[in-house]
Amino acid sequence: MSRICIPYATSEGQTARIAAHVADVVRAHGHEADVVDVKGPRLGGPDGYDGVVVGSSIHLGHHDKHVRDYVRQHRQTLERVPSAFFSVSLAAHGDEQEAERYVEAFEQETGWRPATVAMFSGALLYTQYGFLKRRLMKRIAGGKPGGLGTDVSRDYVYTEWDAVTRFTEDFLAGLAAGPAS
Ligand SMILES: Cc1cc2nc3c(=O)[nH]c(=O)nc-3n(C[C@H](O)[C@H](O)[C@H](O)COP(=O)(O)O)c2cc1C
Repeated sequence: MSRICIPYATSEGQTARIAAHVADVVRAHGHEADVVDVKGPRLGGPDGYDGVVVGSSIHLGHHDKHVRDYVRQHRQTLERVPSAFFSVSLAAHGDEQEAERYVEAFEQETGWRPATVAMFSGALLYTQYGFLKRRLMKRIAGGKPGGLGTDVSRDYVYTEWDAVTRFTEDFLAGLAAGPAS
């Protein structure tokens, strides 16, 4: 049995749901999973875990500052143990080049180049946004490729949960296989 740490940051909750899904898959495979909100109190590091899966959403073109700080602080551990990164954005739904640019910027800012990276589509949660955010997001969604929804009376969840499951299972398979010689 392996112990997997899943540090993440979220603003509207979608990355937390994805982190929880990753943890569910890890547990379903008989391993232990600790989901860690990096904005939370009493934050522990990833030391002592057999694997680490880091997640962050994108806002205004950047991954969460708390995740960037966490990764900079724990980079040596992330480079020592099997680790992976997942990025959550709307660009991942229809604008893959933009989603890749976000990840490239993250790698440059943190100096961490994870062996495994996934870009998951996030959500447009119009019913949860305040007035200004709803207007902003409707305008952005209307002008983006990928056919993003603009009906602000409802939410749109674009995350493909099967892809999250596959990403997690691939990570676990790599862990079981051990380091490549
Ligand atoms: C204010 C705001 C700004 C956003 N900016 C971007 C952006 O620059 N690029 C992008 O691809 N997605 C952007 N998004 C979409 C988020 O990445 C998406 O809603 C994601 O699901 C948020 O994850 P979270 O709920 O874990 O914070 C933005 C969303 C909001 C609400």
